[in-house]
Amino acid sequence: MSNARIIDGKALAAVLRARVAAQVSALQGTIRPGLAVVLVGDDPASAVYVRNKNRETEAAGMASFEHRLPADTGEAGLLALVDSLNRDPSVHGILVQLPLPEGIDSARVLRAIDPAKDVDGFHPENVGALWTGAPALAPCTPRGCMAMLAEVHPDGLRGKRAVVVGRSNIVGKPMAALLLAQHCTVTLSHSRTQNLSGVCREADILVAAVGRPRMIEGSWVRPGATVIDVGINRVTTEGGGTRLIGDVDFAGAAAVAGAITPVPGGVGPMTIASLLANTVTAACRQAGVAEPEVRAQQ
Ligand code: GUN
Repeated sequence: MSNARIIDGKALAAVLRARVAAQVSALQGTIRPGLAVVLVGDDPASAVYVRNKNRETEAAGMASFEHRLPADTGEAGLLALVDSLNRDPSVHGILVQLPLPEGIDSARVLRAIDPAKDVDGFHPENVGALWTGAPALAPCTPRGCMAMLAEVHPDGLRGKRAVVVGRSNIVGKPMAALLLAQHCTVTLSHSRTQNLSGVCREADILVAAVGRPRMIEGSWVRPGATVIDVGINRVTTEGGGTRLIGDVDFAGAAAVAGAITPVPGGVGPMTIASLLANTVTAACRQAGVAEPEVRAQQ
């Protein structure tokens, strides 16, 4: 039996996208935010993400530039494209889809992106800004998770115990920084943490981003905790098909949690909505204009 509030990422993402669209129309005549997405190679999952990013960018009224490069593109070719996007005044946000093919040094490519246009928030300058409290473009998935937490905890997160499971640069580490900035006491744990179940049981806020299907069991969840499941694991069903499941055993966790995100329909839709929001922020900063304050039409 599920007692938990199910956090509806689809609905919340729609509200965020409407807010971005309203900002874009308020900026009409001043600036039209533009996002360039670069895909190297033909990884099918990445191709789906990139298509969705472009579709939603256009739906919000922004300019969308899609660049698809063949898998055998060398690092020099990709760096040349990044350089031209850095100089293009109609491009305010640049996202190079990861993972990149073998032979390309991802860190070097991410460092080549103009930090002002780095809507992924992966450039070391933005990472440093995030950890030091300077204005930064925060990575999209953690930003989306924070928006979900704000829904469940409208009075803020001050003093709460937060446990993040997973230490990736894309999710775990920036998530820890954002929770810390909201005055949580943060534990950044991972698959090799000793007594991981006990660590998780201390969490008022538990963020699972470890990439292992259903690793986090219901018995690891503190009663009443808020559980954010970032995992997207494609597994084969008994019937031979595939389905997406999270890093958390949803049924078990929902029986004890206070609130929980489902997979799919939880964190996933929030990521692209956050990307759109970051693009508007980046465009306004580059143009030297204040970000329009709008209320989304629900
Ligand atoms: N691959 C998986 N997640 C992401 C992301 O947030 N940004 C980029 N650029 N690539 C990804």
